[in-house]
Amino acid sequence: MRGRGPHIVRRVIGTLWLLPLLFLTGCAKNAPQDFMTDLSGPNAKQAWELSAPVFWIAGVIFFIVEIALLVAVFKFRARSDREVPVQVHGNKVLEITWTAIPALILAGVAVPTWFGIFKVAAEPKNAIDVTVTARQWWWEYEYTDLGVITANELNIPVNRPVRLTLKSIDVIHSFWVPKLAGKIDVIPGRVNTLTLEADEPGTFLGECAEFCAISHANMRMRVIATTPATFDDWVDRQKQNALTPGAGLAQRGAQIFQQKACVGCHAIRGTKAASRVGPDLTHVAGRTTFAGATFDFNEENLLEWVSDAPAMKPGAKMPSGLRELKLTRDEIRALVAYLLSLE
Ligand code: CUA
Repeated sequence: MRGRGPHIVRRVIGTLWLLPLLFLTGCAKNAPQDFMTDLSGPNAKQAWELSAPVFWIAGVIFFIVEIALLVAVFKFRARSDREVPVQVHGNKVLEITWTAIPALILAGVAVPTWFGIFKVAAEPKNAIDVTVTARQWWWEYEYTDLGVITANELNIPVNRPVRLTLKSIDVIHSFWVPKLAGKIDVIPGRVNTLTLEADEPGTFLGECAEFCAISHANMRMRVIATTPATFDDWVDRQKQNALTPGAGLAQRGAQIFQQKACVGCHAIRGTKAASRVGPDLTHVAGRTTFAGATFDFNEENLLEWVSDAPAMKPGAKMPSGLRELKLTRDEIRALVAYLLSLE
């Protein structure tokens, strides 16, 4: 043992240079889901104002404890000439001190947290109400007062609170757009609420934060904040029925859509398709992404998706167009042309 000791120590020290690397990963410039910087809206800021002091205090304590631990481990390790540390068992002053300090810190955290929880949970005035329904693996948004239904991309106007009422129809999911608000679980048989707000126009990325089976990682969402005027235009467009293409490949696609299985799961307002099993496609071409905000909305991706959705997104409920729905490549091309026309 005596011979191996220093060898192991040298090895441990030799790998210590990896530690700063770990910390450097926190400096990434491209971190759209970082919840510490560039926060938008009162709720996200409130949450960070509460967590920041705890984070820094805990950080300092972490380093003090770890350094003390390392010193103790090396200084008093098993040796023949072992130095015996001063024994502090039963030292009343020490025991009281290290009980009282954490208790005071916890009380200092608890009081502002208590007020913060009520502030964040309060019903906002003049809010836009949206019912969010989580499914494996995408999000449906129903703007209850505006009569708009869309998926994955939540459009909101800046400087106006948006009140989300969140439900799940299958398993537990979690709605999290870190720069706009805290995280909230979306639980079957239970209704949760969350308020978010953006201070400036922009696209805010988020993702499901509760493991919900195979495509959990492909259950993303984005919040697109625009000026109130742009938002009103968006709402006006969303309220209109879909235009049925008058000619060409897209027209053929519209017919195939109504004849094939598509109509069994999707809704396109202005047509007979009215199912809400899958995302509402009335204005699908107005979105930048699809399938849980996982893929860019473009012809190439749509062709691949309609041909074989489960190959692109494991577990996708959308059947493979080629294998299961027995669509021909021409039919798929027509369907995609139709989808691209649904602005
Ligand atoms: Cu939904 Cu993870």
